[in-house]
Amino acid sequence: MAEQDFDYDVLVIGAGPGGYVAAIRAAQLGLRTACAESRDTLGGTCLNVGCIPSKALLHGSELFEEAAHGHFATWGIKAQVELDLDAMQAEKRKAVGELTGGIEFLFKKNKVTWLKGHAAFEGAHTVRVGDQTVSARDIVIATGSSVTPLPGVPVDNEKLRIVDSTGALALPEVPDHLVVIGGGVIGLELGSVWRRLGARVTVVEYLDQLLPGMDGDVRKEAAKIFRKQGMELRLATKVTGAREGENGVTLTLEPAAGGTQETLEASHVLVAIGRRPHTEGLNLDSIGLATNSRGQIETDHDFRTAVDGVWAIGDVVPGPMLAHKAEDEGIAVAENIAGQTGIVNHAVIPSVVYTSPEIAGVGLTEEEAKANGHAVKVGKFPMMANSRAKANRDTDGFVKVIAEADSDRVLGVWIINSLAGTMIAQAAQAMEFGATSEDIAYTCHAHPTHSEALKEAAMAVQGKPIHI
Ligand code: FAD
Ligand code: NAI
Repeated sequence: MAEQDFDYDVLVIGAGPGGYVAAIRAAQLGLRTACAESRDTLGGTCLNVGCIPSKALLHGSELFEEAAHGHFATWGIKAQVELDLDAMQAEKRKAVGELTGGIEFLFKKNKVTWLKGHAAFEGAHTVRVGDQTVSARDIVIATGSSVTPLPGVPVDNEKLRIVDSTGALALPEVPDHLVVIGGGVIGLELGSVWRRLGARVTVVEYLDQLLPGMDGDVRKEAAKIFRKQGMELRLATKVTGAREGENGVTLTLEPAAGGTQETLEASHVLVAIGRRPHTEGLNLDSIGLATNSRGQIETDHDFRTAVDGVWAIGDVVPGPMLAHKAEDEGIAVAENIAGQTGIVNHAVIPSVVYTSPEIAGVGLTEEEAKANGHAVKVGKFPMMANSRAKANRDTDGFVKVIAEADSDRVLGVWIINSLAGTMIAQAAQAMEFGATSEDIAYTCHAHPTHSEALKEAAMAVQGKPIHI
């Protein structure tokens, strides 16, 4: 088909952070662009049922806890506090509506056509969307991910008794006892929301530590802090079944290594054991595109799949399932399609858990660095010794800098403290520029700020922090 005979230059399937960003960038680069999305609103998992509603509830519940049981009293502020959960949920919906509506506005502004409906391939350049068939020179698959089910524990987000993250974001009442299956990011964020609002929360995690993939010191510290906050942690334990009664659920638990079974009563259960790539109904067979053993679509460095003219980005391809990773891939794939050079440095993708304190990291963990054969020097600085944290009575956590022993190049930074999600950006930028720990140590940081803890941790790599 001649170039001008295609309906579009670029068709993106999926309007999550990967897809909508790819579509906008492609249009900015002068390409005739459409984006197919089957949801009623744009923004994908992240804006509709992920990052945004979870952060809204984390913020609201943190304010509630501060006022009801937290720092208000410490600072001599006396308040009578009452929870209006309906109002909190309404505010969350308002934030989601504003942001998803914002993407619709950006599509109009950039002249991206939204094709409403489910897309399925008919050929490498043709896709059926709803009742129309459209053609495009290049097609980007950005169909994201969906919840991994747990056999024996069936999720029902209508009944709202055994739920996944989408259900857990929409509970109309505070659970008496929420059992979270999976001590990963979703379990800890949404577990924190409901604990702060008054639920008893038990986290059942298969591994012997929370938060797989994060630095070992951070994982240990996180478990200590969450326990101090009142979360019950059942590590190295698996759930083998669930029986739903009238007012709750009886779960069967067993040590991960096998052994004696026990039961645990829950009023509500959140299944949060991971997400898997979403390619259902895409009809990939029709273009001869196979997924790998993990259900992901493999691509090369430029995000090209094995089929000419078909590209893939975001949660559906290998790598961390994070919105900002998907967005960066969205920009890069559009630039590559337009003949420019779009690159994502997958070695420097920060990740953040938005609990209180926040937990963030970028680059290698100490364990990974050593396993990769690096001799490392590590600097650690506790928030207890940071003047701003001390003044704010906010001293949980630390900053850890991991540098290569010979070159002093920073290999990874891990932070657990109230502002970790904001502070990690500096570490990511430093690593992107190939910084040494000395570069961070000799960068002037404003006083008094939590960020000084990063400077001091960098100084500690050479054994010379000032304040410890
Ligand atoms: P998605 O956002 O999943 O979007 C894919 C879109 O494609 C969907 O809208 C879907 O309807 C559509 N689609 C799929 N198939 C078709 C088809 N055949 N035709 C038409 N449309 C189709 N990440 C962070 O970085 N920070 C966070 O704070 C964060 N919080 C999260 C909280 C929760 C509760 C969850 C569940 C996830 C969170 N994430 C977070 C992860 C983040 O949401 C994902 O990494 C991100 O949304 C991936 O973007 P994507 O564009 O690849 O896919
Ligand atoms: P996860 O991979 O973070 O955690 C799942 C946890 O469940 C792991 O600790 C795992 O060991 C455990 N597990 C697996 N099977 C189990 C079983 N049978 N019994 C008990 N525990 C079991 O996945 P999660 O929390 O579901 O989140 C999915 C993805 O969504 C994350 O990987 C992340 O990429 C993304 N996300 C990102 C957020 C952020 O950036 N702040 C917030 C929420 C989600």
